[in-house]
Parts: sequence; structure tokens; C-alpha cells
Amino acid sequence: MAKRVLVTAALPYANGSIHLGHMLEFIQTDVYVRARKLAGEDCRFMWADDTHGTPIQVRARKEGITPEEVVERAYAEHRKDFEDFQLGYDIFHTTHSEESKKHVYAIFERLRESGNVETRSIDQLYCPHDEMFLPDRFVKGTCPKCKSPDQYGDNCEVCGSTYNPTDLGDPHCSICGTTPVMKASEHLFVDLARHADFLREWISAGGQGGTPLQESQRNYVMEWVEGGLRDWDISRDAPYFGWEIPGHPGKYFYVWFDAPIGYIGATQKWCDDNGLDVNDYWGGKSRDDVEIVHVIGKDIVYFHCLFWPAMLNAAGYTTPSRVQVHGWLTVGGEKMSKSRGTFILARTYLDHLSSDYLRYYFAAKVGASVEDIDINFEDFVNRCNAELVNKAANLCSRCVKFIGSRLGGTMGALLPDTEPLVASSRAKLEQALEHFRAFESPKALRLAMEVAEEFNQYLTDHAPWKLAKTDPERARSICSAGIFASQIVAAILAPVLPTWAQKVQRMLKIDAPLTFATAGTVLEAGHAIGEYETLAERIDMKAIEAIVEASKEDAAPKRTFDYEVEPLADQTKIDAFGAIDLRVGKVLSCEKVDKSDKLLQLTVDLGPLGMRNIFSGIAKSYEPDALVGKHVVVFANLKPRKMRFGLSEGMVLASGEADDAVVVLELDTKSRPGEKIS
Ligand code: MSP
Ligand code: ZN
Repeated sequence: MAKRVLVTAALPYANGSIHLGHMLEFIQTDVYVRARKLAGEDCRFMWADDTHGTPIQVRARKEGITPEEVVERAYAEHRKDFEDFQLGYDIFHTTHSEESKKHVYAIFERLRESGNVETRSIDQLYCPHDEMFLPDRFVKGTCPKCKSPDQYGDNCEVCGSTYNPTDLGDPHCSICGTTPVMKASEHLFVDLARHADFLREWISAGGQGGTPLQESQRNYVMEWVEGGLRDWDISRDAPYFGWEIPGHPGKYFYVWFDAPIGYIGATQKWCDDNGLDVNDYWGGKSRDDVEIVHVIGKDIVYFHCLFWPAMLNAAGYTTPSRVQVHGWLTVGGEKMSKSRGTFILARTYLDHLSSDYLRYYFAAKVGASVEDIDINFEDFVNRCNAELVNKAANLCSRCVKFIGSRLGGTMGALLPDTEPLVASSRAKLEQALEHFRAFESPKALRLAMEVAEEFNQYLTDHAPWKLAKTDPERARSICSAGIFASQIVAAILAPVLPTWAQKVQRMLKIDAPLTFATAGTVLEAGHAIGEYETLAERIDMKAIEAIVEASKEDAAPKRTFDYEVEPLADQTKIDAFGAIDLRVGKVLSCEKVDKSDKLLQLTVDLGPLGMRNIFSGIAKSYEPDALVGKHVVVFANLKPRKMRFGLSEGMVLASGEADDAVVVLELDTKSRPGEKIS
């Protein structure tokens, strides 16, 4: 029986939108899976959203909705992005599912039974205001080394030193600003050191084809093992969005415990839907039966190459055959940046360009190395235009159109002198598949372009256009060679550009899809082909400019204040007028609200008290621009109200007799945002 292959990409966090950095990985994974499928393998791409943890909990609280709502919203958005990027996964599930939960509990149970779980008390920072323990990233303070203010609890972005959040000077909760206190709490730990021998073996042995890790990663992961493995804390205290730990009320599984189990949850769901047994993948199978391949970024190697294999092995599950690590996406040589417009969301890209171009460009750039990958917009446009349009599409279009318009639309026998080219193209088709299987899509695409170049040259040399009248049969044979080459090119492009291959199949009226096995067959003389369909069009640099413009977010100036304001009064309902707290607010932005003719959406700065999102029913009286920069009076301790369009966090004082005759109370712009008005 053929081996089962299961491929995953990292599970995207449900607390944010998908950007081009994510897409690099997801396209890389998709191309790999499609290539293996096209080679006839039983290969599946199983995947999910990663839904648990503190950030989602905090986001939900901020927006006044439940974590489940946050997660559902992200799920719908992510799926739409992925479909529009033509990701051909077999399933996209969620870690917040019964299937995932079942395996979280099963694995935990087996770890506990086998004596792998210890309980002990640890001290941690706790915010008395938010009533929660604060993860490292939710504590900020002064770096103990270089004294830079406003650094995260785990490491300093200025001097790069790492420390514990308890080492910070002047620590404060990054959600509310309160000074946290130390508090003891029971936690559950897995003793990783017990698994050092297994890990050594797993890291160096690997499955078929040698090691599960790229050379550089193998050395680096081995160093971690040799350096001594620390206990792994798998629990978090309530409030936490996740699965409660059986036998430990108020304790939840740490998101990184349950996230990778989402791979198994997705497999479970897919197997349930398709009448298969999840154990055929995860039931402790040998590498001869099952191949499990994880594609991940270099920031999450620790989780995938230590915790994950150790925990699978201890629980008797199948361990991964391969963990393929890629580098970081940079744009124009720098980290993606919101102020430069290079932090590009998947959706923003899709609003302006077809996913084909990015799929091609990433596949042409992202190989098996862990080096960072830079995208440069000029290079992006040039390569798509020069390679896809001028070389590959042009070859096919010239031949299909010429045979159609001048030669009655039928194929001829290839000339004998074409044989060496035909043979080398077939060899390239085979090599391309090997490159795809080694995560070397750039090398595969290089071969496709070589085939296109060689046959374009062949056409130039043989100039069939001049022979149409004098020797039409020879012209037909020459163009038929170009058609043959277009099949090879389409088959190599197929994992990257599935619709391209489908179009070529359709124009050439071939019954079976163009695959690594079929594309090397020369169509018979007399075979009738169809009309040319556009394969690719040139990209205009304007589209890129529009993407960058739409991605620009003015970098918010660093907010420091040289004045203090009174703390806000407790929140109130609108009827409790006695407790009203009015503040100076500066309008930073003001926009029309889609589908509402009454509302404007304002971002109002209350200085040290932060920003507010406020919906105000003044659209009939004010053009949005008219209020920007103005100082207004804000009813600031009003309970946030969930509206159809979002959360409204206050009111702007205005008066008027009718909707179209409202006047907003304006203050002197010398007044300080956040100051109390009495
Ligand atoms: N939820 C975890 C993964 C859990 S897997 C069991 C996570 N999510 S993520 O949304 O932050 O990232 C998903 C993947 O995208 C990761 O592999 C990460 O390395 C990758 N990338 C995120 N930003 C990236 C770039 N700028 N460049 C390249 N890859 C990037 O991590
Ligand atoms: Zn707090």
C-alpha cells in the first residue's frame, strides 16, 4: 500500500489578519503538497487556526465580545484569504474543536500515566486590576541592563538582553498600567530532560531521505539538547481562553501545548469526514507507513523540534518525519513596516493583484534554506513580466494562435531534429519534481523557464511564420514543438499556478490533467486544438504603488506626556448624570461609517488616558474632515457600548434641534487632551 503523507503549515493565530509573511509559508506548503499530489502520491494538507491563549482573551475583553466571537471572525477571514490565494488544503479546521480537545486530553492522560507531569508552585506577576497573571509580553518596565524604559517582560528591544519579568524596573501591566504584584500559583510541568535520548535520536536519525531537519537546524537543535533541557510549564491560570486541565480546576493548557495537537485534531476531523481512521496517521506509525511533514518559520523551531516530538513519543503517537524551516520575509531589505507601507495584509494584496503573481514569485524565491527572503517590488514586477508573460505565456500564445489562425488548428509531427530538445525537456520535467519534493521550487521553476527559453529560441531560429504559405506542414511541425514545450512548462508550473495548467489543458483539448506523468507525451499529428486563453498579463507598477499606499499607517508618534491628569471616575450608565466625567479630547481621525448616513466614526485622543473609538450621530451636520484636529468635550466614563459597527467608547458632546443642525462643542486647542472639565 502506498505511503500516506501528511503535510501541515504552522497554524495561524486567530488574533490577527494574515499578512504576506504568513503567505510565504502557506504558499510554500501548498506548492509542495500540490507537487506531490500531481506526482500521484497520497498526500494531504491538513491545517487549522490556532485559537487559544492570552492575546485572544485580552482582545475579546477590549472589544467587549467573547473569545469565541474573536475566533469565529478570524476563521471566516482567514479562510476567505486562503481560498483567494488558491491554497488547496484538504481541511482547514480549528484548535477550538471537539476533535482537537479529545487529543489534548488523550495526550495529557498518557503523559500523566507515564509519570511525565509534575506539579509545583511558582511565583508570577499578577495584575490586581485585571485580575489575571501576566504573561511575559504583558508586563512592561525598565530594562534591568540598559535601563531603557517601556520594555517587554522577556527581553529588551534596545540592548537585546533577556531576563525574567520580575527583573524589570518599575513593572506595569501593559493592559491597564497597574503595578503588578507577585503571587504564587500551582503549575504543571513536563520534564523534558527525561526525553533527551529520544530527542538526540530523532534529531539525527530522521525518516527516509535522512534527517528530519535541515543541517543548520539540526546542529542548533542538538545544541539545545546538549545544553540541558528545562522543565516545560504546560499550564496557565484562569482567565485563559483554552481547555481546562482535568483534575486542576482553574488551570488551562498553555496554548503551545494544544496548538500543535491541532494538527491531529484537523486530521481527526478529516478522517471522520472521509471514513478513515486517524490512527492510520497518528497511531504511532513507522516512517515506512506514514510521512508527517511540518512547514514552519524559524521563530517556532523550539516548539516543533523539542516539545512536540518528545510529547508525541511519550504519548505513543507518530513522530514527525520532517520539519521544514524557512526564513523571515523582509521587504526591500527591511523588516515589514506599517509606516513604510510594507506590512502588507493578504487582503490588501488581493484587492489589487491576482494571487498568481505572488504564488509565482514566492515559489521562485523560497527554497530549502533558512535564510531570510527579501521581496523587492521592482524585482517582483520584472520577474513576473519577464518570465511568466514574456517567456512562458508568449511561447504558448504564439503557437496556439498561429496553428489556429493559419494552419487549421491541428497538430503536426515534430521534426526529427527536435528530438534532443524533447528529450532534455522530459528530463527537466522529472528533475523539477525532485526539486519540488526537496522544497526547492526555485530550481524547478528555473527548469520551466529554461524549457520556455529554448523553445522560444527554436521558434525564432526556424521562423515558422515565414513558412506558412510555402511549406505549411513544416510550419505546423515547428509550432507543434512549441505546443509540446508549453505542456512541459504548464506541468512544472502546475503546483504553483494550478489554473495555468488547467487552461493549457483546455486549449490543447487534452483529456487528462497535465501532470509530471502525462505532460511529456507529444500530441498526435492531426489532433485538433482549441482557442488561446490568456495565461498571464503584465503587471503595472501602479498596482504595487496602490498596495503600498493602502498599507501605510502613519507611525503613531511615541506617546509621552509632560503632564498628568486625574484618574477617570468609575464607569457609569448614561442615566447616572451625577457621576459624569467630562474630558478634553482631540479628534485624530474622523470617517464616514459604511451603510450609515447618520454616524461618523471618530478616533479621539484623551492624552494620558489613551485613545477612544467613538461613534457619533453627526454625519448629517459635519463633513468628516471638518472635525479633525479639533478639541472636543468627551463624556469619558461612559460604559463602552457595542454597536452594529463596532464598540463605542464614549460620547462627544453636541447639541442641536435636528439631525442636520447639530453643533459639536469645541474647545480651545491649547486645552490638554485628557484634562477634566468641571
Ligand atoms: N500559532 C503559531 C503556530 C502554531 S503551530 C502549531 C504561530 N502563528 S503565527 O500566525 O504567528 O505564524 C504562523 C507562521 O507564519 C509561523 O510559522 C511563522 O514563522 C510564519 N511567519 C509569520 N511572520 C512571518 C514573516 N514575516 N516571514 C516569514 N514567516 C512568517 O506562530
Ligand atoms: Zn492590568
